[in-house]
Amino acid sequence: MRDVLIPRSGIHLRLVLAFSLLWASFDGSVAADGPHIATASHIDAGRVQANLEHLAGIGSDPAGGITRLGLSQAELDAHKYAVDLMKDAGLSVRIDAAGNVFGRREGSAKLPVILFGSHLDSVPHGGAYDGPLGTIGAIEVIRALNAAHVKTRHPLEVVVWTNEEGPHFGVSAFGSSVAAGSVGPEVLDRKDEQGETVADWLRRYGQDPGQLASARIAPGSLAAIVELHIEQGPNLEEAKIPIGVVQGIVGLRRWKCVATGTANHAGTTPMTRRHDALATAARELLAVRDSVRAEDGRQVGTVGYLKAEPGAPNVIAGRVEFPYELRDLDAAKIERMYAATQKRFADIDREEGTTTVCTEVNHIEPALGDPRIQATIREAARTAGLATMDLPSGAVHDAGEISRLAPMGMIFVPSHAGISHAPQEFTSPGDIANGVEVLYRTIVLLDKKLGAKPTA
Ligand code: GLV
Ligand code: MN
Ligand code: MN
Repeated sequence: MRDVLIPRSGIHLRLVLAFSLLWASFDGSVAADGPHIATASHIDAGRVQANLEHLAGIGSDPAGGITRLGLSQAELDAHKYAVDLMKDAGLSVRIDAAGNVFGRREGSAKLPVILFGSHLDSVPHGGAYDGPLGTIGAIEVIRALNAAHVKTRHPLEVVVWTNEEGPHFGVSAFGSSVAAGSVGPEVLDRKDEQGETVADWLRRYGQDPGQLASARIAPGSLAAIVELHIEQGPNLEEAKIPIGVVQGIVGLRRWKCVATGTANHAGTTPMTRRHDALATAARELLAVRDSVRAEDGRQVGTVGYLKAEPGAPNVIAGRVEFPYELRDLDAAKIERMYAATQKRFADIDREEGTTTVCTEVNHIEPALGDPRIQATIREAARTAGLATMDLPSGAVHDAGEISRLAPMGMIFVPSHAGISHAPQEFTSPGDIANGVEVLYRTIVLLDKKLGAKPTA
């Protein structure tokens, strides 16, 4: 029977309360002191670096960083590389209808799967570690288990999720959301700038879009989901702590908005008679910022771009498209901020003589780390002589989606200067080795603990 580590009924309200407290009270508390290099390493750090370097060449962008968008040829190439590594490690590979790759290592008992891995897509001009670390780290854990002739009781599966980042098609955590059942076939007709659909891309990945629902993971089939990731923030580096234990992952809601005004001559239209969609959108961008700042806490809101049409210096913009997203650990706060922004948008439209329509394109609920997995990660780090810090995640992660199906844990390692989603993203080889070693030890410990009767 699956080890249920957190009760799943009536969970939402408690999640919200727990998250609010956790997010508000985050003070970078540190569990233990310790050196910054893991003792008695099981993993081959040089091999991990070599694999990461190889991946960094896939989708390397002459204009800077790595552009390996989800559902693109570059992501598909990266998936193929991971498949080769998985096969070399003796895993039996299957690919689901969402393009997610699973590599399986059998266990000695009939138990649910311990699933771990990450993603290989990037944002435009992104870095080399967001996603690849957790993916290559997971494959390295299998290679290390093989080298040590460790047979686990649970089957282990390494996963590579499709299109975690989401700028392509606007759905973050696409593959894991399909697996968790929170995104369904309604997404298939979504078009990108080239007029191609999600379904077109899945076909290129060798999948039948009509079978998308088959990618759903059956409840009860997972014992745990674990993801190793860079922190993407400054907390670990500033505190000089090598390992982060993730308490919870923010929820995210994202809308695509279109502000419509009247395109007109920039020289002849008096300032009092303009219906300038770009002026509206610019004011709405600031309204998002103000509405988010009006609440206490660590919530964030972002307008990532404004796309004005016709986009000429001597034409007043008649149409502007822009996304905005809101994130917090408290879903009710996100809803409140959304209501505040929409009220402001209506006022701005009235003042500017424009119309703004927003459609929700992504909705991810907050997710809570499982306390027993968190304790296991701390224990794993302690046995490796590494200090840990508990901290929340402001980035969304595939593990959060899978937490709807199974107890979830995430391991963070430091990000240099807290920079991520940018070419300068960097995590040192030593920090990477520590993270992969802690992942190894966490999987071995979870295999012993999950499904075992608690000792008195
Ligand atoms: C992905 O990293 C996100 O948080 O958007
Ligand atoms: Mn990521
Ligand atoms: Mn990311």
